[in-house]
Amino acid sequence: MSDQALLILYGSQTGTAQDTAQRIARQAKRRRLQVRTMPLDGYNIATLISESTVVFVCATTGQGDPPDNMRNFWKFIFRKALPAGSLCQLDCAVLGLGDSSYPFNFVAKKLHKRLQQLGASMLLPVGLADDQHELSDAVIDPWLLSFWQRFYTLHPSLKALPSLKEDELPPTFSFNFLEGDSDVASLATPAEQTMISSSCPFSAKLLSNTRVTDVSHFQDVRLFDFDITGSNIRFSAGDVVMMRPCNAAEDVQQFCQLLKLDPESRFTLSPTESTPPARLLQPCSVRYLVESYLDIAAVPRRSFFELLLTFATNELEREKLAEFSSAAGQDDLHAYCSRPRRTALEVLADFPHTTAEIKVDYLLDLFPEIQPRSFSIASSLKAHPNKLQILVAVVRYKTKLYKPRRGLCSNWLASLNPEKEVYVPLWVKKGTLKFPKDQDTPVIMVGPGTGVAPFRSAIQERTAEGKENVLFFGCRSKSKDFYFKAEWEEKIKAGHLTLFTAFSRDQENKVYVQHRIRENAELLMDLIANKNACFYIANAKEMPGSVRDALKTIFQQQGTVSSDAAEQMVVAMEQSGRLQSETWS
Ligand code: 2AM
Repeated sequence: MSDQALLILYGSQTGTAQDTAQRIARQAKRRRLQVRTMPLDGYNIATLISESTVVFVCATTGQGDPPDNMRNFWKFIFRKALPAGSLCQLDCAVLGLGDSSYPFNFVAKKLHKRLQQLGASMLLPVGLADDQHELSDAVIDPWLLSFWQRFYTLHPSLKALPSLKEDELPPTFSFNFLEGDSDVASLATPAEQTMISSSCPFSAKLLSNTRVTDVSHFQDVRLFDFDITGSNIRFSAGDVVMMRPCNAAEDVQQFCQLLKLDPESRFTLSPTESTPPARLLQPCSVRYLVESYLDIAAVPRRSFFELLLTFATNELEREKLAEFSSAAGQDDLHAYCSRPRRTALEVLADFPHTTAEIKVDYLLDLFPEIQPRSFSIASSLKAHPNKLQILVAVVRYKTKLYKPRRGLCSNWLASLNPEKEVYVPLWVKKGTLKFPKDQDTPVIMVGPGTGVAPFRSAIQERTAEGKENVLFFGCRSKSKDFYFKAEWEEKIKAGHLTLFTAFSRDQENKVYVQHRIRENAELLMDLIANKNACFYIANAKEMPGSVRDALKTIFQQQGTVSSDAAEQMVVAMEQSGRLQSETWS
């Protein structure tokens, strides 16, 4: 393997780690180094022993889990059979992108230690950036600077080469536009698919798209029902479904206008150094590329401005883009883009001269791929065979920008009309919530708002088996956002469900699920202490802490134990998997 070869491997869930990896790759290319960039699971790990320098860029997801595209690597690297010195020829560096509200950068820290254990020379301490913090460049930039210093200390001869300018870098792919009307390739949907995955999703027919909140309610929450007949998709309560949204038709149109692209034109890609993405079947139309692949609705990152700058000829625009690309301009970039959630498309509209100059070959370098979104499955195959349902809040909110912000996936889903034979490619994944297999274990579930989704699946599944369920559901008002009311009433009547509701705004004082939990201390204590019940919490971030506190109070009062002992009981439940929570932002 050549001395100059740098390998950048990433594990990315939301695309940030991938973007960072690609930014490092661009820096390497400018330094005229041979560089390869790929997801960890796309790399043949058996060849790691013949590499020279590897940079790992890894995110941490969920409760400290590795991202999906590094799961196989993760299993492999922790195999006990790997001999201690097996990576002793390797120079490595690990950069972590974590979310400070989860176990912070657990994956990167653990990987750094493991590589060290396997004998690799770690070029510098693990870099710990905060994925949620848009100013994480403040950590990444100095870390990269140290990395390059160490790299050139080890390879002094490479430093003599003069660096290329950003605008001298070739695109990753070049576009060859086709003449005439050759057909656009399209994904065939086999009637029977066996291995459904992200690379081979199942096109599920949308059966219904129903609003479950009253029309007068501020929030539009929908229940979507998909037909998965013939897919062989199996799931149990707690599992999640993944799908990739599309950009809105008017955004696609505006994008094509700004870049002077004909949406109906067709192209093939010639790889210059990488293989074209499998999802872009060729020939591909510009419309498909923009609608289904390029993430033009996301808030752009710094690397976007760095590349956009290379097309700027208009003096004013050039100056502004140079500022946003510089380390000193990051506060301004944050105020311009991240805080008001300005989209890449809106940025393009703000820089029309530069946008008109963008060379089409660079589109795949400028815009990341639209990432799949995950939703807790809200139904059970036992109650709805061959169906998969999700409960989705349609995300719309205001910032200082004139136009309201819209969540890409929820608004795309909400726009789909089941009467028009719509098919949505999807696949399912194991979720973090695990329900007891044992017939007799009661479960207590706390899921206000759309947090109730995985519990509806659990209740449907468990009811079919005659198990005991306790649900705490909270919403604003009994008449406006009490979803599945009729369904719960039926289950209560049949003796399968004990339901406690907290309607926070139906009276003067706020009533939340944690209040109802405290009020039912005796029942809960009996279920947990005497019947070995499992306890589940699902919702947006703040609530689980309050519910956990309520549980602790119950232990303290009912068990007449100290606060420390009650905390120990909660921790013991967490460690044994009897207390599980799922949160999202
Ligand atoms: P609120 O909007 O009236 O404050 C679903 O969103 C329900 O969860 C709503 O009734 C909401 O009440 C409530 N909620 C908001 N914050 C909460 C918290 N920290 N703990 C528990 N429930 C909360």
